Amino acid sequence: GKYKELAEVLKQECIAPDIYSMWLQTDKIAEQAVPGQFISVYSNDGSRLLPRPISLCEIDKEKKALRIVYRVAGKGTAEFAQYKQGDKIEILGPLGNGFPLERAEGKKVFLIGGGIGIPPMVELSKQLSGEKTVIAGYRDDRLFLKEELAQNAAFYAATEDGSAGTKGNVLDAIRENKLTADVIYACGPTPMLRALKTYAQEQDIECWISMEERMACGIGACLACVCQSKEVDDHSHVHNKRVCKDGPVFLATEVEL
Ligand code: FES
Repeated sequence: GKYKELAEVLKQECIAPDIYSMWLQTDKIAEQAVPGQFISVYSNDGSRLLPRPISLCEIDKEKKALRIVYRVAGKGTAEFAQYKQGDKIEILGPLGNGFPLERAEGKKVFLIGGGIGIPPMVELSKQLSGEKTVIAGYRDDRLFLKEELAQNAAFYAATEDGSAGTKGNVLDAIRENKLTADVIYACGPTPMLRALKTYAQEQDIECWISMEERMACGIGACLACVCQSKEVDDHSHVHNKRVCKDGPVFLATEVEL
């Protein structure tokens, strides 16, 4: 199920330019959530802004707390960044399907995040057992969440400006470090997902992608997130999928990127 709650802000900090980390005290949402899911966060300012979908970075079931890490990229998220400890915020969740953890059993896994697609890899790296390698793509040497990721997995960074790790993208880091895997879980911008899909097909690797960067309202209301799937019905109609309702995680081969 999903729940609408008034969650209390436990902690908020800026962890890189325009990137904020917020811990929220929830009632039921944290207990129900799985890696790769998201919540929709509502604006408190009384305007009719649609909620913002924000992916879960960490899930603390014992404390019933959730950590979200998000980029300030507009009015709504700029408002969220102002919140302080003790403030209340309306959220809906958990939403979306999450990553299929069972596909990684006994396998070597890549967890690949690009930019604001990196946060979901933290909880995923905690919950997956087995041999895990994180490859994270950043702009520069502000390697946010590196500490958390390196705790649970081998960690490699790629940076656009070459100031840390491999200069280039996540695939450059994979090649430079001669990394291999049987299964990929990835989240990030569409060009990165497209490149990974091709790479996975060439290498015959199962590849799961979260297309959360495509989402706008997160609640099925705006249709900004529609993507074409490979699914064809009896009348040979191609089925469109809403990333926020049917995803955000898909098998890469099942969607057009
Ligand atoms: Fe608005 Fe999916 S994000 S309908």
